[in-house]
Amino acid sequence: MAAQINPSILSADFARLADEAKAVEGADWLHVDVMDNHFVPNLTLGVPVVESLARATDTPLDCHLMIEAPDRWAPQYVEAGASSVTFHVEAAAAPVRLAREIRAKGARASMALKPATPIEPYEDLLPELDMLLIMTVEPGFGGQAFLDIMLPKIRRTRELISKHGLELWLQVDGGVSAATIERCADAGADVFVAGSAVYGASDPAEAVRVLRNQAEGATAKASWACDH
Ligand code: DX5
Ligand code: ZN
Repeated sequence: MAAQINPSILSADFARLADEAKAVEGADWLHVDVMDNHFVPNLTLGVPVVESLARATDTPLDCHLMIEAPDRWAPQYVEAGASSVTFHVEAAAAPVRLAREIRAKGARASMALKPATPIEPYEDLLPELDMLLIMTVEPGFGGQAFLDIMLPKIRRTRELISKHGLELWLQVDGGVSAATIERCADAGADVFVAGSAVYGASDPAEAVRVLRNQAEGATAKASWACDH
């Protein structure tokens, strides 16, 4: 699969979301960070804003729910128009049931791991998912420094995906930029969230193109992608 770049609107101007979505129309997905001030110490937006944004753009929405009780709320984001919904495993009461419900409602189901959450206990759950998100910062804020110590986890997750022959996308989120995206791609990521690196650039669409080229160049040289 070609590298996908998902700009995070957390770093966009929230008063001009429709325009900010248009500014990155060449992107694969728009990453929408939902924070409830409980699971993370920050508050962003909810179902009504996702509904409006889905009407305002043709770019599919990748909703990253940093909220408590995702079992209760995640299905509503599918109904609001999200094409992919990510819940945090640390917050989910029944991740398998929730992933099945998201898929049954017609969206891609994705599960996120905070930096201190290991992948190994979830190996058997991977076939239930369309994407796994490895956080490369502590969730809650844009503009934080990339955590290099997550690279081994990305590598081990890619090995599990290969071992089981899964079509699972591997997303990284947090501190992804021109300075770090190649290391992520080399370790095995194929979906890249970038907030400040895209919306902090003078030309966000160009920033997406540059990141995509870098990711594809690094993937082409990566050992994990050799047999694809
Ligand atoms: C952080 C969010 C990220 C955030 C990334 O908790 O999940 O999606 O927007 O921002 P950058 O790319 O600036 O680290
Ligand atoms: Zn995010």
